[in-house]
Amino acid sequence: MYYQRPHGRTMKGLTSAERSAKNKRDKKSLVEDGRSHGVLLYDGDNAIGWCAYGLKQEYPRIDNGRNYKRLSLKEDSERLWRIACFFVDRDYRKKGVAKIALKAALDSIKAKGGGVVEAYPVTHKSARAWSKWSNWFWFGTESMFKREKFRLVGPMGPHHLLMRRTVQP
Ligand SMILES: CC(C)(COP(=O)(O)OP(=O)(O)OC[C@H]1O[C@@H](n2cnc3c(N)ncnc32)[C@H](O)[C@@H]1OP(=O)(O)O)[C@@H](O)C(=O)NCCC(=O)NCCS
Repeated sequence: MYYQRPHGRTMKGLTSAERSAKNKRDKKSLVEDGRSHGVLLYDGDNAIGWCAYGLKQEYPRIDNGRNYKRLSLKEDSERLWRIACFFVDRDYRKKGVAKIALKAALDSIKAKGGGVVEAYPVTHKSARAWSKWSNWFWFGTESMFKREKFRLVGPMGPHHLLMRRTVQP
């Protein structure tokens, strides 16, 4: 939900439990309104991973980010999609599940009419440095997007890149 809120003001003063409950409630209502997209990956009946994506308007917090603003991008295409978050169950990590999730998200965007798709992966350098102690590459890694023909637009702060590609309908 973090990037789906334009800012964090509505969460101020809430306890961790209250934030969690509010996130679930708000996510549910976005899904019911058709304003939240994602692909879920299953192993049999078990959900083991996801990739959340959506139109630019569904992720307003990205536009408000200092490092995104610094890129001063020219007016976006009418259909600008964002790859916002990956999550893979711990038991299934480092087996290529996130790569499959990305392919599935791109197929899903294609089926919805395509457009420009942007992503904010962690740079190789930061991924190498962080991997010793953390697993928080929820925006994905540079190589995942290169493999899917995304091109570099520019650096987004010291640890992330802005990459884009067009998906034809
Ligand atoms: C980041 C994450 C999605 C990766 O999923 P995964 O299925 O293990 O990734 P894959 O096996 O498909 O690998 C994708 C790429 O990421 C790299 N990678 C994955 N885990 C890594 C790690 N811990 N350190 C460095 N690189 C890593 C892989 O080497 C691969 O790179 P390549 O394209 O150069 O081969 C998973 O570790 C995760 O869910 N982490 C928690 C993220 C989270 O908290 N999300 C919720 C926040 S909203």
